[in-house]
Amino acid sequence: MPAGTVAVLGATGKTGGAVAAAALHAGLTVRGTTRDPDSADGPAGVHWHGADLLTGDGLVQALAGAEAAYLIVPNVHPAEVEMVEKAARAATEAGVDRVVYHSVADPDDERMAHHLRKGRAETVLRELRPEAVVLRPCAYQQNLLGAALVGRLAVPYRVSAPFSLVDLGDVAEVAVQALSGRLEPGSTHVLGGPEDLTVEDLARTAAGVLGRPVSATAITTAQWRSGPGAGAEGSALTDLLAMFEAYDQTGFTVDPAPLTHLLGRPSTTWAQLLSKETS
Ligand SMILES: NC(=O)c1ccc[n+]([C@@H]2O[C@H](COP(=O)([O-])OP(=O)(O)OC[C@H]3O[C@@H](n4cnc5c(N)ncnc54)[C@H](OP(=O)(O)O)[C@@H]3O)[C@@H](O)[C@H]2O)c1
Repeated sequence: MPAGTVAVLGATGKTGGAVAAAALHAGLTVRGTTRDPDSADGPAGVHWHGADLLTGDGLVQALAGAEAAYLIVPNVHPAEVEMVEKAARAATEAGVDRVVYHSVADPDDERMAHHLRKGRAETVLRELRPEAVVLRPCAYQQNLLGAALVGRLAVPYRVSAPFSLVDLGDVAEVAVQALSGRLEPGSTHVLGGPEDLTVEDLARTAAGVLGRPVSATAITTAQWRSGPGAGAEGSALTDLLAMFEAYDQTGFTVDPAPLTHLLGRPSTTWAQLLSKETS
């Protein structure tokens, strides 16, 4: 069992919460950052520290004493490159031995500005910390889990487009390997799920596992904006609409082999995730 202290930036978020929970489960002591430590909503057992990635305030203090830091930037944030640079510099100032960056698969996909920002952030990070480990996950299965459980997958792109959605739990397991120093310094890892499934396939499988109807519907971006996307604005909205267009064109598939190799077991299927959620 690995021992030691690790820091997870944005541990109140979807990804950070999963990474923090996996690190705690592995026996690590976890420092989590949030802008509001007094009302932090994240895994029990995390030691909360106030830090703001945008200004850099509190980062060095939050990281001091940690052996490893997991860098996560909020989804589609326009300042991703600057935030990663601030966090990497803070990690060095705080004496953190290992840095791991949560990027994305296909960071050079020119159709999506937020992917390109992650590509630029990787370059900046490599200049500052050449030994950093970079994880490049595909989209998560968890993005569609809640909708599947309530019986309606409605997405603003083609329901026949293929995706190798990855289980966030599997991603978090690899994140812990990286934080514990078990991945090659300077390495980059693409993390994709075991199957290429369309939203129609996901609905069909979910209906089979759940034993009730699950629909797959393509909605317009206008419908998305007046529903689940109501809070999106500015560059985040532009980024998400570009992402939906890319998904509509090609879906989002990646090689599943690296994740299986890292896990030393088959990665989690959509049906397995659904079964686990409902058992
Ligand atoms: N969803 C996917 O399928 C997927 C796939 C691959 C990669 N990713 C990447 O994963 C990353 C995380 O996405 P997510 O959806 O898990 O994020 P999220 O749930 O939106 O979490 C964002 C986190 O960032 C923190 N945060 C927000 N503004 C901050 C600031 N100014 N300074 C410091 N912390 C701040 C929030 O903490 P407080 O509000 O508590 O301060 C929160 O913990 C993104 O970069 C995304 O591109 C996502």
